[in-house]
Amino acid sequence: MTIIPSGAALAAEIQNVDLKNLSDRDFIEINAAWLGHLVILFRHQQLSVEDLIAFSRRFGELDWAPVQETGRRFVEGHPELYVVSNVIENGVPIGSLGAGEAVWHTDMSYLENPPKASMLYALEVPPAGGDTHFCNMYRAYDSLPDALKQRASGLGLKHDATYNSGGYVRQGLAATDDPVLSAGVYHPLVRTHPETGRRALYLGRRRNAYLHGLPLAESEALLDELWLHATRDEISWHNQWHPGDVVLWDNRCTMHRRDSFDPSSRRILYRTQIKSAPGEPA
Ligand code: OGA
Ligand code: MN
Repeated sequence: MTIIPSGAALAAEIQNVDLKNLSDRDFIEINAAWLGHLVILFRHQQLSVEDLIAFSRRFGELDWAPVQETGRRFVEGHPELYVVSNVIENGVPIGSLGAGEAVWHTDMSYLENPPKASMLYALEVPPAGGDTHFCNMYRAYDSLPDALKQRASGLGLKHDATYNSGGYVRQGLAATDDPVLSAGVYHPLVRTHPETGRRALYLGRRRNAYLHGLPLAESEALLDELWLHATRDEISWHNQWHPGDVVLWDNRCTMHRRDSFDPSSRRILYRTQIKSAPGEPA
């Protein structure tokens, strides 16, 4: 196994490994590389659905995927699989997020206990576009001016439940653009990673975000400043997908976004999401 850091502020590619046949020693090395680099990429994998689930399970129990915008589960018999796709079959989308941009976010942070990690496996990708970008939220926190660090450490942030990152209203919720009243849960704005002990900014998603107890205008202004800070190119890396790519990221210390792509081309990825340890605070 060869670990090749991207040279950017996060991410490494791990080469010479077949995720179908992994020894315990390989797994320990992969897990350490993931905690250190925040995002890891494997190319040229050929995984069945069962292989993908089995590899994901090495990191912990799996969360069930959110239901589709249409209310359907994605893959019959595999509630732990989330399908990211723009493909429409017999008039019904086979997955989520369409072909538009998916804005910066952290997965499922509208839950009390969001998954610690997500993994995407690329089956079909368009010839251009649809790249996925990741940013390093340790760096986002570390680079804040001291006064802002201090201030942020005492604040709670609402993570909106209304919309997914593609801008679609989630199943069972009503559209709203009121950050104070929208459905969601509060998490600390600054969190300490339970495995690395490092502090990270925890932003989740911008739409309907709200800093607990602040006048709305003040909350908006502070969030705009934090968001600008966190999503700078200097602390980001992106993957241009090939079929067979597997990307695993840490939702506790990264955010991600996806570029739009030509809606007439096909893009299909499968995602798993790995639960945080029981009782692990966000
Ligand atoms: C996700 C996601 C981005 C992409 O699956 O959580 O944000 O590249 N996907 O499709
Ligand atoms: Mn996502």
